[in-house]
Amino acid sequence: MRALTWQGTEKVSVETVPDPTIQEPTDAIVRITSTAICGSDLHLYRVLGPYIDRGDVLGHEPMGIVEEVGSGVTNLKVGDRVVIPFNISCGHCWMCQHGLQSQCETTQVTEYGTGASLFGYTKMYGQVPGGQAEYLRVPHADYGPIVVPDDGTPDDRWLFLSDILPTAWQAVQYAQVPEGGTLAVLGLGPVGQFAARIGKHLGYRVLAVDPEQVRRDLGAKHGVEVFDLTKDLVPELVDLTDGRGPDGVVDAVGMEAHGNPMAGFAQRAAGLLPDKLAQKAIETAGVDRLAAVHGAIDLVRRGGTVSLSGVYGGMADPMPMMTLFDKQITIREGQCNVKRWIDDIMPLVTDPSDPLGTLDLTTHRVSLEDAPHMYEVFQKKQDGCVKVVLDPAMASA
Ligand SMILES: NC(=O)c1ccc[n+]([C@@H]2O[C@H](COP(=O)([O-])OP(=O)(O)OC[C@H]3O[C@@H](n4cnc5c(N)ncnc54)[C@H](O)[C@@H]3O)[C@@H](O)[C@H]2O)c1
Ligand SMILES: [Zn+2]
Ligand SMILES: [Zn+2]
Repeated sequence: MRALTWQGTEKVSVETVPDPTIQEPTDAIVRITSTAICGSDLHLYRVLGPYIDRGDVLGHEPMGIVEEVGSGVTNLKVGDRVVIPFNISCGHCWMCQHGLQSQCETTQVTEYGTGASLFGYTKMYGQVPGGQAEYLRVPHADYGPIVVPDDGTPDDRWLFLSDILPTAWQAVQYAQVPEGGTLAVLGLGPVGQFAARIGKHLGYRVLAVDPEQVRRDLGAKHGVEVFDLTKDLVPELVDLTDGRGPDGVVDAVGMEAHGNPMAGFAQRAAGLLPDKLAQKAIETAGVDRLAAVHGAIDLVRRGGTVSLSGVYGGMADPMPMMTLFDKQITIREGQCNVKRWIDDIMPLVTDPSDPLGTLDLTTHRVSLEDAPHMYEVFQKKQDGCVKVVLDPAMASA
């Protein structure tokens, strides 16, 4: 089959690789009909190379049609239309039973001391072949896949259940905004767009920040008050919230933040070191860009909550402990526990009026063969790009 593979820092290519096969009774094979590129893939593209091997298949936001199931999979049948959550979780361990599927004890990666395995996401997360491919082997298919109606609705209606919609949902839940309160969202990429829309849906006032005009415009279209990224933004937003600041701030930016050019250099440099040295640098030497999380801490009101869905790396990054303590700030964070939120979100995505605008996010639907070019377009935010969906059945442009 054809699959998008990692080949080096900022280099991916579509290659012919062996077709996946059933290896465990709880596996399924899915023929992919849509598979998105995520902001998290950009970390692999640029920073996390030391944890990937050349030829690894990327991608963790897929959906498609079940082609084959193992003998232990009774919840799916061949022909079902399914969305595949990016966490690989078993459904029966203590963590899964407690709604912490991203910490699944069956698929945790003990070698790296990390949480549940993820599709297409480095050795730290199990080095499981990803979903930017024609076919995907789905481990623990007796629990993970979400069956959606096969009724001619466009894939985009369902596809984002794989990651960014539940991620945004969790981010807003974790932000602990009181009824009628104010939510700020930093970053209006795909995750931030959905977080802002979910905030509106829940009746909050939503203020959102992004340096990109196209993304601000899309936010504004959904009733969000949008702001460009300027140095003195904090006083402006605090002024708008009775001088206190928003009740909760979602950081939907993560370590690709703009605002600290030196860190950008350090990230790039780490990506160029031999693997072992670079792993050390990423884990300990503070190669992150902390602009967004530091901004969130400055912005949130005293006693408020900062909710991080943006991904961060290093251990040695300076955090303003005095401010955190003095302002009495709660921080919540982590990989999304996708399956935990599906029952809450499903009524919104099945609603024909599409209240979260699932059909108003994808700017580019292209063939799998065009993926390498689209990684670059998405990373550089060219051509009005907000969300890219790859279609393995489409002929290359
Ligand atoms: N926790 C999870 O489970 C989970 C799941 C999916 C994605 N993520 C993470 O969420 C983050 C966002 O993902 P995405 O797909 O929306 O990516 P994205 O890269 O498209 O979006 C990031 C946005 O932040 C904006 N931005 C950059 N610096 C900023 C700053 N200082 N202040 C405000 N905005 C700024 C960018 O212009 C961009 O629009 C990434 O870090 C990604 O890894 C986490
Ligand atoms: Zn993702
Ligand atoms: Zn589990």
